[in-house]
Amino acid sequence: MIKEQILELKKKKGISILAHNYQSPEIQDVADHLGDSLALSRTARHLDVDTIIFCGVLFMAETASILSPEKKIIIPDLNAGCPLADMITPGSLRELKKKHPKAVVVTYVNSTAEVKAETDICCTSANALEVVNSIPNNKEIIFGPDKNLGSWVASQAKRDLILWDGFCVVHQKFSTEKIEELRTKYPGSVVMVHPEVPPEIEAVSDVTLGTGGMIRFAGASDASTFIVGTEVGMAYRLKTLYPNKSFIPASSGAVCKNMKKITPEKLLQSLKTLKPVVTVPDNIAEAARSAIEKMVEIK
Ligand code: 13P
Ligand code: SF4
Repeated sequence: MIKEQILELKKKKGISILAHNYQSPEIQDVADHLGDSLALSRTARHLDVDTIIFCGVLFMAETASILSPEKKIIIPDLNAGCPLADMITPGSLRELKKKHPKAVVVTYVNSTAEVKAETDICCTSANALEVVNSIPNNKEIIFGPDKNLGSWVASQAKRDLILWDGFCVVHQKFSTEKIEELRTKYPGSVVMVHPEVPPEIEAVSDVTLGTGGMIRFAGASDASTFIVGTEVGMAYRLKTLYPNKSFIPASSGAVCKNMKKITPEKLLQSLKTLKPVVTVPDNIAEAARSAIEKMVEIK
């Protein structure tokens, strides 16, 4: 059985497996640490191990590698990218910075290391509001690449942000009609959505949270049924934590193909070969490190 082989090999080699909340059940079940982008970055930084296998998408593994250059960070498939991260390039960000030379650049962690190198402070969905609120009110802010997260943060912080025009293809899969249909089917249910959803979906939700926030909220809530407006893997994660509650994906089509590129077979292969290793060129890592450190250190 592949599961037993993975568990045996990671123990024998002293390797930690980190997995994002969107990973498939087979990966979640063998992970040492599961979490959202922020929690996984912090865990990768503080773990006392030489080697980490990161089951997530490439920007997450790159972030871990920049934060912990002394550790070997392995991702089972280097092609597990993030289309949102690729919607902004360092050159196009530099052009925008030229137009707003005094603006502070806040970049969502869903971005390439090269773009982070052009950034003042990174954020995740868990702390985007705190990051923006930490910047003095008289400062202009460029926020990218996710326009939906950016406009949600702007509305919460009650300030204007210069938004990049990017979006997540997976979080475009929701419709207001389907959410209303599910509300009728499950009376008393709570609709949780990720801030990457478009504003019209956010408008029909009860609460807007990153994946870590959804876990805390569902655990503390008296409700027993939740409509989950994010990637489908999240419903399995929540059900594992709270087996007595029900979690209904708001769209069965909200599947992140890139997250699902990490399979048990590839994970086992990585455990055997200790490859492929994530490498970020030193000059890019140096330039990106302080923006990422500010992100993990902000309270
Ligand atoms: P979280 O940081 O909320 O886990 O989200 C990551 C992500 O990629 C959302 O699409
Ligand atoms: Fe990127 Fe969207 Fe997948 Fe998150 S769900 S990793 S933003 S493509």
